[in-house]
Amino acid sequence: MGILKVSIMHLLGFVVFCGVLASPVWAATQQHDFVIEETPYTRLCHTKQILTVNGQFPGPTIKARKGDTVIVRVYNHAGYNITLHWHGVDQPRNPWSDGPEYITQCPIQPGANFTYTILFSEEEGTIWWHAHSDWDRATVHGAIIVYPRQGTTFPFPQPYQEIPIILGEWWNANVSEVLADALRTGSDPEISDAYTINGQPGDLYNCSKPGTFKALVEHGKTYLLRVVNAAINNELFFAIAGHQLTVVGTDASYTKPFTTDFIMITPGQTMDLLLEANQPVTNSTNNRYYMAASAYSSAVNVAFDTTITTAIVEYVNSTNSSSISPQFPYLPSYNDTNSATNFTANLRSLASEDHPVDVPQTFDERIIISISVNEILCPNSSCEGPNGNRLAASLNNISFVSPLIDILDAYYQNISGVYGTGFPSQPPFYFNFTGDNLPFSLLFPRRATEVRVLEYNTSVEIVFQGTNLLAGENHPMHMHGYSFYVVGRGFGNYDAEKDPATYNLVDPPLENTVGVPKNGWAAIRFRASNPGVWFMHCHLDRHLSWGMNTVFIVKNGASPQARLLPPPSNMPPC
Ligand code: C2O
Ligand code: CU
Repeated sequence: MGILKVSIMHLLGFVVFCGVLASPVWAATQQHDFVIEETPYTRLCHTKQILTVNGQFPGPTIKARKGDTVIVRVYNHAGYNITLHWHGVDQPRNPWSDGPEYITQCPIQPGANFTYTILFSEEEGTIWWHAHSDWDRATVHGAIIVYPRQGTTFPFPQPYQEIPIILGEWWNANVSEVLADALRTGSDPEISDAYTINGQPGDLYNCSKPGTFKALVEHGKTYLLRVVNAAINNELFFAIAGHQLTVVGTDASYTKPFTTDFIMITPGQTMDLLLEANQPVTNSTNNRYYMAASAYSSAVNVAFDTTITTAIVEYVNSTNSSSISPQFPYLPSYNDTNSATNFTANLRSLASEDHPVDVPQTFDERIIISISVNEILCPNSSCEGPNGNRLAASLNNISFVSPLIDILDAYYQNISGVYGTGFPSQPPFYFNFTGDNLPFSLLFPRRATEVRVLEYNTSVEIVFQGTNLLAGENHPMHMHGYSFYVVGRGFGNYDAEKDPATYNLVDPPLENTVGVPKNGWAAIRFRASNPGVWFMHCHLDRHLSWGMNTVFIVKNGASPQARLLPPPSNMPPC
C-alpha cells in the first residue's frame, strides 16, 4: 500500500515535470537546496565560468501554490559574495529574506550559507528569483510559478501545457569584469554579445544552431507561456511568427485577456501568455515558427546590443525540412516608443469577483520622484564618461550610495550613521524635465544614502517623472515588498492638476515593475501595509549600479500582526 502511494506520487511528479498542467502535488512548505557554483558554459564558441545555481543556467524553477511557504537553503561554493532575491514576492513582514545586498542583508560570503524563507501571499502566476548582488543575476536566475490554491483554477480555460520562456543577456566576457570596468572608467558598460531564450542565443548567432530552444506543440492545443525578462540592461520586444499571443497576467496578477502580435517586456517584468497552436500542419510548409526577441532601446546615442535571439515553435507530427527556414515574426524597431507604450496601455487588472482589485481611491501622501541619468565630476583625469566625467543616475537628484552594513540591520538595531531619512517628496527643483538641451548645471546629483520613512498603512501615490537629462529612456521602476496599481501614465511633464483626471481607478494593472515611458511619467498607488525595509530601483542594472535607487522603511503598526517578524538566527555578517 505504502509503495503504491509512493509510486503514484512519483508519477504525478513526473507528469508535472513534463510541463503538463495536471494538478501538481507537493506540500505547502517545501525546501530546496541552492548551491552557488562556478560552472563552465559555452555560448557563441566562447567558454567561460559562470555563476550558477546547482550548475543550471537558467537556474531551477520554483513551483508553489498561492499562499505557500518555500524554504531555500543557499550554499555559496563560488568565489564571489552573493545574495538571492525573490522578485515579486511581497514577503509580508519578512524583509529578512528579501535579499538585496546591503539593503536587507549582508552578502553570503564564499563558503558560507543562508536560509531564505519565501512567504507567498497574494501572488498567483509567474514571477522569478535572481541574485541581488552586483550583476550576478546575469546567470543566477530562474522562474517562480505560483499555481492557484488547491481547489481553485486559472481564470481562463486550462492550457494543455506550460512553457517557461526566460529572456536573458549573455556576455562573452566575465560579467563581474564588465561591471567593474564600467565603474572604474565611469563610462557606459560594454554591451552584451547576445540575448538568450532559456539560456540559448538561437539560430542567428555563431555556433548556436544546435542548442536553439525548441517548443513542440500540437495543433489545436493551447499553451501557457510564462515569460520572464531576466536581461540585465534591455527592454525587449517578443513575438512568435504566425501566431497571436493572449496576455492573461503580468507580475503574478491576472489581467483582462487581450490579444496582441507582440509584447514589450522590461527587465523585472513577467507575463503570462496563451499561445493557441492554431496553424494548419501541412506538407508544403515546414510547420516551424520562430519566436524572437530584440531590444526596445529608446535612449538616443546610447549603444545597445542590436542582435536578435530566437527559439522555435514546431508542430509535432509534421514533416519538416531543415532546408526551409522557419517563418520570422514582426518585431517593432528598437526605437518604436509608440508600439511599446501602446502595448503596455492595454494591461488592465482582471477585476473579477474571484480576482477583485483594491485600488486606493485616495491617498495620504504623494511622492513625486524625478528619474535621471547624470554625471559626477571626475575625481582625477581618467574618466571615460561624457564630458570626461563619470556616469551616474539619481532619484530626486540623489544618487544612492550603498552603505557598508545593511539598512535593515541598522534600522532594527537602531545603529546610527548608516542612512539618512531625508529622501524628499518632490524633486529639489522643477524644470522642463522632458525638454531638449537641458542646462549642464542640472546634470550633477548629490550622493547620499537617503531613505523614505512611511507610517504603517499610509495610502501612497508615487509619480515617477522621467527626465531627458543626458538621454531620456523608458525606466522599469521596481519596488520590493509590494505590488502596486499603475493608475496613470503619460508623456511630458506630470501635471498634478490635470493628469489625475485621466487615472484608471477601476481596473489598473497590479505590478511590481512599471515601465516609466521615455520622457513621460507613471503614477502608482499602494497601501503601506507591509512593514519592513524595501528597496526601490530601476531594473536596468547599469542604472541601479549608478544610483537610481532608494529605500522605503515602512514602520510597524500597532497590532502584533502588523509588526516585523523576528530576524532569523543566521543572518550573514558583513
Ligand atoms: Cu528583480 Cu531589486 O529586483
Ligand atoms: Cu533606468
